[in-house]
Amino acid sequence: MAIKAAIRTAVFPVAGRGTRFLPATKASPKEMLPVVDKPLIQYAVEEALAAGARRLVFITGASKRAIEDHFDSDQELEKLLVSQGKNELVRQLRSVLPSYASCIYIRQPAPLGLGHAVLCAAPAVGFEPFFVHLADDLIESEKPCLAQMAEVYSEVHASVLGVESVPAKDTDKYGIVALERGTGPVRRIRAIVEKPKPAAAPSRLAVVGRYILSARIFEHLERIGRGAGGEIQLTDGIARLMQDEPAYAYLFEGKRYDCGNKLGYLQATVEHALSHKELGAPFAAYLRRLAKTI
Ligand code: G1P
Repeated sequence: MAIKAAIRTAVFPVAGRGTRFLPATKASPKEMLPVVDKPLIQYAVEEALAAGARRLVFITGASKRAIEDHFDSDQELEKLLVSQGKNELVRQLRSVLPSYASCIYIRQPAPLGLGHAVLCAAPAVGFEPFFVHLADDLIESEKPCLAQMAEVYSEVHASVLGVESVPAKDTDKYGIVALERGTGPVRRIRAIVEKPKPAAAPSRLAVVGRYILSARIFEHLERIGRGAGGEIQLTDGIARLMQDEPAYAYLFEGKRYDCGNKLGYLQATVEHALSHKELGAPFAAYLRRLAKTI
């Protein structure tokens, strides 16, 4: 299956304050937390670019300036590095954002929820299908998750949500889907509900932070009221969208790390360090020594 250049826009909702990481996230965005040597938002952008996105829309809020700076060129720093002969570093800095990609920053005026954040992207997205990527969910896979989903999209031509199975006790942390009968990794969604208690959950299949959405989602997001947690929920918008057109769940290939909590973030850091080109071997040796002492 070849990737068709159908989806050009990726939306990154980055307005959340990251309260679980305070005080680290008091003055700097949680999306700038590094996993080994790159901030979470850079993993997110690389994944979207690998799936064919060219227009990157960041929905930002208070204390998020560092994200704009990260994807901007820094002439002064580059000049300094060139004068010190550090050309490899200059190359790395320039490759943070390839020249064919463009960034749009839209401020979410108030923290009204993920659905509202996505709605803020409407003027930049237009009437095309688009990706939504939540940088907290870091997915390690041979083929980037959004690229896998773009292939699914080119078959089904409808909204696609990345899902995985979670422990029953965790259903109230996610959007949970009920699927139509069938087998295989792509199945039509019958119902979707935001953060149900385990006893009320229609399944254990959770939506992770990867979506391909039809632009018609915006009409629904405009109309729905506040849902779970008093917020305008993307899940509720998708439930309404499904009354007009199908949406599919895709059980992606890869390992997800929930970097929105400290344990998941530490696991991502350790495992990424172990597979790092230069650090992997010495870090593994260090962990082996350390393991003997605990
Ligand atoms: C959001 C969505 C939820 C989804 C989750 C994935 O929740 O509302 O449906 O399953 O992201 O990480 P949040 O983690 O922002 O509470």
